[in-house]
Amino acid sequence: MKTIRIGIIGMGNIGRHHAGYLLDRKVARCELVAVCSTSPGKLDSYAAKGVQVWGDGLALIRSGTVDAVLIATPHYDHTTLGIAALEAGLHVMVEKPISAHKADAERLLAVASSRPGQVLGGMFQLRVEPRYQKIRRLLESGELGRLVRVNWINTDWFRTEAYYASGGWRATWKGEGGGVLLNQCLHNLDVLSWMLGQPSRVRGFCGFGRYHGIEVEDDVTAYFEYPGGATGVFVASTAEAPGTNRLEIVGSRGRLVLEDGKLRFTRNDGDMLEFSRSAKGGFTKPEIWNVEIPFENAAAPHAQLMENFVAAALDGAPLIAPGSDGVNSVELANAIVFSALEGREVELPLDALAWERRLKELIAGSRLEKVVVAGGKEDFAASFRR
Ligand SMILES: NC(=O)c1ccc[n+]([C@@H]2O[C@H](COP(=O)([O-])OP(=O)(O)OC[C@H]3O[C@@H](n4cnc5c(N)ncnc54)[C@H](O)[C@@H]3O)[C@@H](O)[C@H]2O)c1
Repeated sequence: MKTIRIGIIGMGNIGRHHAGYLLDRKVARCELVAVCSTSPGKLDSYAAKGVQVWGDGLALIRSGTVDAVLIATPHYDHTTLGIAALEAGLHVMVEKPISAHKADAERLLAVASSRPGQVLGGMFQLRVEPRYQKIRRLLESGELGRLVRVNWINTDWFRTEAYYASGGWRATWKGEGGGVLLNQCLHNLDVLSWMLGQPSRVRGFCGFGRYHGIEVEDDVTAYFEYPGGATGVFVASTAEAPGTNRLEIVGSRGRLVLEDGKLRFTRNDGDMLEFSRSAKGGFTKPEIWNVEIPFENAAAPHAQLMENFVAAALDGAPLIAPGSDGVNSVELANAIVFSALEGREVELPLDALAWERRLKELIAGSRLEKVVVAGGKEDFAASFRR
């Protein structure tokens, strides 16, 4: 049986999570043979299990001991390590965001597209969640009719000052390239784009360090306009408790609401726009049917996405989250922040080089003195069990 020998580069919160299920053999035909961190001294427990330990990602990539790497470092390294790994002939699974900004994402994707025999996947594990798959299916099948409006309040990403102090790269322009949009909400932006495509215009309003001692955005309200005329509002925060996660999608044939672990479809008996045109009375509405759509949460979404990555590399299976899709969420995150900083609407496709120049100015102008305080032992997995 063919197998993939994989190495993980970046062994912090999520790198260790990936290593855990790979060592437990939860992904068939995939063997974790190497781990790599800038602090390799902290990886003795992996060496004790027979896993190679590396202190230099490029050396691991060029070692000839792995067929694939999973890149789980801070954001800017995703591009450099990803390109190096592709050029070394490896398959690459890159953590979200695929790059710190759109221009870097395009650089990574240009190399990937010149190597069609290699797989570049993005770790967008929400895509394997049945709730989003079902919504997507409803949209694609036309059951919701014409898209009219989407509202997503995404404020249940509460993070404390201790979280931001736990890593020097966190919530800085230089280390991360953005805040709640590029880090926590990137998963939601990916799902949004996967379900509805990209808007054509974006207007963002952001609070930069409004509620935390950070320089990037921690409070966001964004307005979208889609090519077909639909509108959207996306609200995000890392400062609200208890916080809300409510996704509402309105189509001409009904309304979908995902909230509190329930997916509800209020289905119009017919198309509301057609009804409006043909109704004789002025205050009538289409009749409705209430449909509750059942779903289970994926038991191990990261492992499931990795299984798909292995199938893509070994069997040519289609990727659930191709790396090439990863540019869309980065573009949305960048466009919202760019719009907020410029105080104007931004058209998509975003001018990637204009944002890169602005980001470089933000980095050069940064006066933030980051004090890093190592966190205690917490259950990191609780951060994505939601
Ligand atoms: N998909 C998810 O559910 C999920 C969850 C959390 C984080 N992430 C993403 O994973 C990435 C890492 O996040 P984290 O929370 O684990 O960060 P972290 O700070 O906990 O860990 C990063 C690790 O990378 C190591 N590192 C830094 N530069 C390196 C390099 N050049 N080579 C090798 N190792 C290097 C550091 O030593 C550290 O151990 C980020 O892109 C983040 O957005 C994804």
